[in-house]
Amino acid sequence: MNFLSLIEKKREGKVLLPEQIHKFIREFTAGQIPDYQMSAMLMAIYFRGLNTAETTALTLAMRDSGDVLKFPKDKRPLVDKHSTGGIGDKVSLPLAPLLACLGFRVPMISGRGLGITGGTLDKLDSIPGFQSLLPAAQIVKQVQQVGCVICGQTDTMVPADKKIYALRDASGTVPSIPLITASILSKKLAESLGALILDVKFGCAAFMQTKADARKLARAMVALGNECGTSTRAILTDMNTPLGRAAGNWLEVKESVACLEGKSPADMMELILDCAAHLLIQTKKSKTFADARKLAGACLNSGAPRAKWDEMLAAQGADLKAFNRKLTLDATAKVVVEVKSAKAGYISWCDARIIGEVIRDLGGGRLMKEAHINYDVGVDQMAKPGEWVEKNAVLCRVHATDSTQAKIAMARLKTAFAFAAKRAVKAPLVSEMISR
Ligand code: URA
Repeated sequence: MNFLSLIEKKREGKVLLPEQIHKFIREFTAGQIPDYQMSAMLMAIYFRGLNTAETTALTLAMRDSGDVLKFPKDKRPLVDKHSTGGIGDKVSLPLAPLLACLGFRVPMISGRGLGITGGTLDKLDSIPGFQSLLPAAQIVKQVQQVGCVICGQTDTMVPADKKIYALRDASGTVPSIPLITASILSKKLAESLGALILDVKFGCAAFMQTKADARKLARAMVALGNECGTSTRAILTDMNTPLGRAAGNWLEVKESVACLEGKSPADMMELILDCAAHLLIQTKKSKTFADARKLAGACLNSGAPRAKWDEMLAAQGADLKAFNRKLTLDATAKVVVEVKSAKAGYISWCDARIIGEVIRDLGGGRLMKEAHINYDVGVDQMAKPGEWVEKNAVLCRVHATDSTQAKIAMARLKTAFAFAAKRAVKAPLVSEMISR
């Protein structure tokens, strides 16, 4: 194909035909289009955009560049949730077993963290023996038998996205709404879902810093997901402050288990139940949002999702004995230090970006894709905006590999908290829902 003429067409702001998009994605995946030409196309798309038909074509072409999961007919709907990523965002972990107990099948294909945002797979890799990379046949088998799986993308799923994402990363073309939409949805559509809930975050630690940008991305993804036959909704959620009281891979697994045992921080619980409730409505299992939330809450309280979590872990090779022993430990990092408040007052701000940067620099996140991470480091017992703290009370704890690292982290963490004499009105966690 004459790919150069398509690059020029997009450069001039013209519309590409669906068949042209399908063909160049096929050829690029097969190695017949060089990276430098694809990078030029990505830059043209970055500046000129894609209309809905073009974005749909790109998404479907990317989905079809590899294996699409095929599930046997079953009355349990296939559902999933995707988050654009944040600090302390561990919602997927308790949500998958909860959804399985609510009568869904959940093929939750997740990713690793990059930069300050954590990745679901990194969190799960802190569990002794847990296998996060499974072949497609095993993913399908586990979903059918257990009801849920949380694992990574196989080598043969959406290979076009892997190649294109690497080029976007190296060519400054990541922040493009049609490219993000196609990247995220091609992977989700390869799970053959009936319904999808998207948690699109905004704020200082989010991919989209403003609510207006988050809304734009959410609208594009919702429209396209629905157009492709997957019932899709999005919620816009605040990521100025971390979710829950713990951030860092193992510490988040611990908080997720606490959540399944009825000891969840309020914001985590709100998001878990909201995501479950939307999926219950989308699949017509509940009529009203209030009913759906009640059903999800009762299910979580029943203890069944906690047992399902163990079942999922065991199916993925985890050593449950070692895992449960690890859960009883207060800390797995070598050094744990308390960060104390210099004064009394209401917490008015806890900066998620600073917390995320501290954890990344402690070794809990990656600056480069290939970097190894330390699962034990992080921050827990975080005070939340709106709470009163006395002078010398614990604002948070640092889990570090040595005392030098801990000291540096402590100094930075002190700057993450702001105080006020009066309790400020808390910003809502979930501020909008988009269904079309
Ligand atoms: N996450 C993805 O999977 N793709 C993007 O383009 C951005 C975030």
